[in-house]
Amino acid sequence: MRFNNKVALVTGALGGIGSAIVGALLAEGARVGLVDVNAEAGKRFDKELSAAGHQVTYVNANVSSFAECEAAFTAIKAQLGEVDILVNNVGISPKRDGRALKVWEMPPEEWDTVVSVNLSSMFYMTRLATPDMIKKREGRIINMSSVAGKAYCDIVAAHYAATKAALIGATRHWAGELGEYNVTVNALAPGRISTPLLKMVPQETNDAVAQVTALKRLGTPEEVADACVFFASDQARFVTGQTLDVAGGWLMT
Ligand SMILES: NC(=O)c1ccc[n+]([C@@H]2O[C@H](COP(=O)([O-])OP(=O)(O)OC[C@H]3O[C@@H](n4cnc5c(N)ncnc54)[C@H](O)[C@@H]3O)[C@@H](O)[C@H]2O)c1
Repeated sequence: MRFNNKVALVTGALGGIGSAIVGALLAEGARVGLVDVNAEAGKRFDKELSAAGHQVTYVNANVSSFAECEAAFTAIKAQLGEVDILVNNVGISPKRDGRALKVWEMPPEEWDTVVSVNLSSMFYMTRLATPDMIKKREGRIINMSSVAGKAYCDIVAAHYAATKAALIGATRHWAGELGEYNVTVNALAPGRISTPLLKMVPQETNDAVAQVTALKRLGTPEEVADACVFFASDQARFVTGQTLDVAGGWLMT
């Protein structure tokens, strides 16, 4: 078990990729704090995992608010202990009728919401988790970017691409700041992964992506979770500031 006696915190923990990451961390012995915005589903998931003998704590929080992130972080630390592994996974990609809005159509409020959920939340949680990691001289931070943050992709809107690109910059910068404290910061850049996020676009769009992906298929949440476990593990102790594509060869840069 790679994460015995480790505490992980995962944002967007109820989603397709988030729940796979939670499962993979639990399978390696971690205690896991789950943060999401769906209270009903959160309570059910918490109950299910606890019944299976896992140590988990679900906290309902809208991560676009620093105060809610702080309350969630404090509750998880009190229940499970200091956070060793932070997975900044949460992300949204709003569409209208299955289509990403162009810059001239986009309501400013939608831009602001995506920036706060996809980018500011990562800063909030990293701000909260790093003092304990610095004190312990150990920590792992994994940020969820996207290949759409590295290459033009007309399926998503600019707010999504911009926040995912910004995360790559923040990952590199935080890795530089935290390296002397033995805290690593890396990012994952998934391609098209079969999760509820994809249901917002027509099936033909996802089929077309599979066709232009080197491995000729979409990815699974478990395939992203495997890469996340690698970054969180001791095997990646000398890897920091990196962004790893988990995209089957789609939008290779
Ligand atoms: N699915 C893909 O193809 C794909 C590709 C590249 C990157 N990603 C990234 O992977 C991450 C997970 O994506 P997913 O496909 O599992 O998405 P998902 O929609 O299945 O899950 C997202 C989760 O985040 C939660 N959430 C949304 N807004 C929130 C908020 N304000 N506060 C707290 N929780 C909130 C949702 O309730 C949901 O459980 C995201 O960052 C996404 O951008 C996904």
